Amino acid sequence: MNFNVRVLSSARYADRVATVLKERTDEPGLRLCLPTGSTPKPVYAMYAGNGGDLSQTTVFLLDEFGLPPGGPARCDAMLNADLLAKLAAPPARLETWDTETPDLTAECRRMEQAITDGGLDLALLGIGMNGHIGMNEPGSAVDSRSRVVDLHPATVEGAARYGADDEPAWGVTLGLGTLLESRSIWLLVTGLPKAEILAKALKGPETPQVPASYLRRHSSVTVWADEEAASLL
Ligand code: GLP
Repeated sequence: MNFNVRVLSSARYADRVATVLKERTDEPGLRLCLPTGSTPKPVYAMYAGNGGDLSQTTVFLLDEFGLPPGGPARCDAMLNADLLAKLAAPPARLETWDTETPDLTAECRRMEQAITDGGLDLALLGIGMNGHIGMNEPGSAVDSRSRVVDLHPATVEGAARYGADDEPAWGVTLGLGTLLESRSIWLLVTGLPKAEILAKALKGPETPQVPASYLRRHSSVTVWADEEAASLL
């Protein structure tokens, strides 16, 4: 196992992660996967506030809800509101998901191809309360690729927290196999409610029931946890 676990106080968390992210995005040509949700929000705010710059970076959006475009719970809308709109310049290239297309399978193939043409240098990830990574819900295969998925009730509930008018029944996501090919991975985890699932992911059995447990197969994972999320490690 090659987990590098960095435990930070809540007060220092966003600043520290944003600073290290800024160092990475100063490298020209970085190919970066970004998540949305509540966990990365403070990091993105700090990154933008400290002059973060994605103008040399290719950004791939981790996942997307099957919701009409324009709503606040859409991952592309959250990425825009939480990060992109706060930056002085747009990313060099931005790849998001077209969920309106009649051929979603082709759209997932397009995203997969965009990633494999050059790979990912760094994938930032969050973890769901059920151990999901992106929208790779419990039961996802370790070698799964980008695809359309049915959402777990807890994930649908999460979309409501993000302000969704309708309940999304499905989503599209980079696969676990796709993400595990990233040259490095950062798992961002904050808050007491995530302590139990983080402990299961790092110390419990490696199982499809906890998709995040498969991150242990990767050779370069950094877990950025605050003290509350790390309290059961
Ligand atoms: C959501 C998203 C994930 C996200 C995770 C945690 O459903 N599909 O990409 O990382 O769940 O979200 P949060 O940070 O809001 O707890």
